[in-house]
Amino acid sequence: MNGPTPFERMNRHGAIVDANHDELAMENFAQAMHFEVFAHLMPGNKDVYERRVLPAFEKREGRTPDSRREVRGEMREDPYHQTWSALRRTTQEMMWVATDTCLHRTYDELHERARPQKKTLGSLSLDANLDLPRYITAVDIHCMPGGYCSEATSGDVYAGALYDRGVYSITQGFLGPKVDGFGRSATAYIKRTYPNFRTGKVLDVGCAVGHGSVALAETLPEAEIHAIDVGAPMLRYAHARAESMGVAVHFAQQSAEHMTYDDNTFDFVVSGATLHELSTAGIRNIIRECRRVLKPGGVMIHIEQPQYEGMDPYDQFMRDWDTFGNNEPFWGTLHDLDLEALAVEAGFQRDNVQQSMEWGDEERGQVYNVDKPGEKPTPPWFFYTATK
Ligand SMILES: C[S@@+](CC[C@H](N)C(=O)[O-])C[C@H]1O[C@@H](n2cnc3c(N)ncnc32)[C@H](O)[C@@H]1O
Repeated sequence: MNGPTPFERMNRHGAIVDANHDELAMENFAQAMHFEVFAHLMPGNKDVYERRVLPAFEKREGRTPDSRREVRGEMREDPYHQTWSALRRTTQEMMWVATDTCLHRTYDELHERARPQKKTLGSLSLDANLDLPRYITAVDIHCMPGGYCSEATSGDVYAGALYDRGVYSITQGFLGPKVDGFGRSATAYIKRTYPNFRTGKVLDVGCAVGHGSVALAETLPEAEIHAIDVGAPMLRYAHARAESMGVAVHFAQQSAEHMTYDDNTFDFVVSGATLHELSTAGIRNIIRECRRVLKPGGVMIHIEQPQYEGMDPYDQFMRDWDTFGNNEPFWGTLHDLDLEALAVEAGFQRDNVQQSMEWGDEERGQVYNVDKPGEKPTPPWFFYTATK
C-alpha cells in the first residue's frame, strides 16, 4: 500500500492559507499516524477475530455470528480492538486539530482571501432563513469541529477552510491534489456512459467546498454547473475557491430535500459521499427531488461506499466502525437500505435503476497517486444511478 501523500502536494488555490513549518509538520504527522492505523494496525483486528474472538464465540454458542451486531458485541470486549478503535478515533480528531491550528492563526487572512469579488465567473446565492436539517446540525459529522454550518462571524468561511485541508488529510491525499476524486469519478462515468453529452446542466448535491463541482466544471467545460449545500460557510469558501481557480460554478444554499429549481431542469444530478450523512427520511426526500429536477432522460448519480448486502458479518462490522466511532450516525442505515425500492418509490422505473462498482477516472486512475499515476490501489466506488 502506498503511503499518504503529504500536504505539500495539495493543490494551491486563492482561498487556501499557507501553514507554517510547525503546522505543516503537525498536519503531516497526524495524517501519517492515521495511515499507520489503517494500513498496518487495522489488519490486526482480523487476526484477533480469527484467532481468539471467533473460536470463543463458536465454543460458547455452537455456531458462527450471523450479523455484524453479534461480531461487534464480541469484538468490543477485545483489548486489541479497543486499542485500535481508540487510536482510529484519536487520529481522526488529531487531523482536525492540526488543521485548526493553522486556520486559527490565519483567521483574518483566510477571510480576506474569501472576500466577495465584484466580477465573477460563477455565482453564490445564500439563504439565511434556510431550515437546517437536524441530521447535519446535531452532530459534528466525522468529528469535524463545529460541523458544516457553524458560523462565528458574518461572512464566515472557517468550516469550508477546515473541510478543505481536513478532508485531504483524512483521505490521505488519495482523492487527488484537488481532493476531487468523487467529481472526476462522476465525470468519468458520464463520459463513458453518455459520450455525446457536452452542453446542458449538471447539479452537484451536497457540494461541500466544491471539490467535485470544480472537477465537473473542468472536465465538462461546455456544461453549466450548479451546486448546492446547506452550509453557508462551506459555500462561501467553495465560491472563493472556484473563482480563484478560474472555474464557473453556480453555488446556492438549498436543502436537497426541497430544491428551488424548476421541474425538468438538469441533465445530470450527482452527489459524492453525501447520502451516508443523511437520515433515511432525508434520503427519501432527496431521491424524490432529484427525480423532479431531472429532465426526462436525465440521470441521477450518487457515489458512495458499497452496500452491506452480501458481505460477511466481519467485513460489515469493520466497515460499520464509522457509525459508532466517527460521528456518522447514518452510515450503517444507508448501507442497509434497499436503494432500488427507494428509487422506485420516488417514481423511477425499476429497470432504470442501477447499482454497480465502477472505477472512477480511467484516464488518470481514480487515486491520484503522484508518484505512480497509473496505479489504482483502492477499490472502485459504488455507483447508485437512475434514469428518469
Ligand atoms: C461529505 S460532504 C460531500 C463531499 C462533496 N460532494 C465532494 O465531492 O467533495 C457532504 C455535504 O453534504 C451536505 N448536505 C447534507 N445534507 C444536505 C442537504 N439536505 N442538502 C444539501 N446538502 C446537504 C453537507 O453540508 C456536506 O457539505
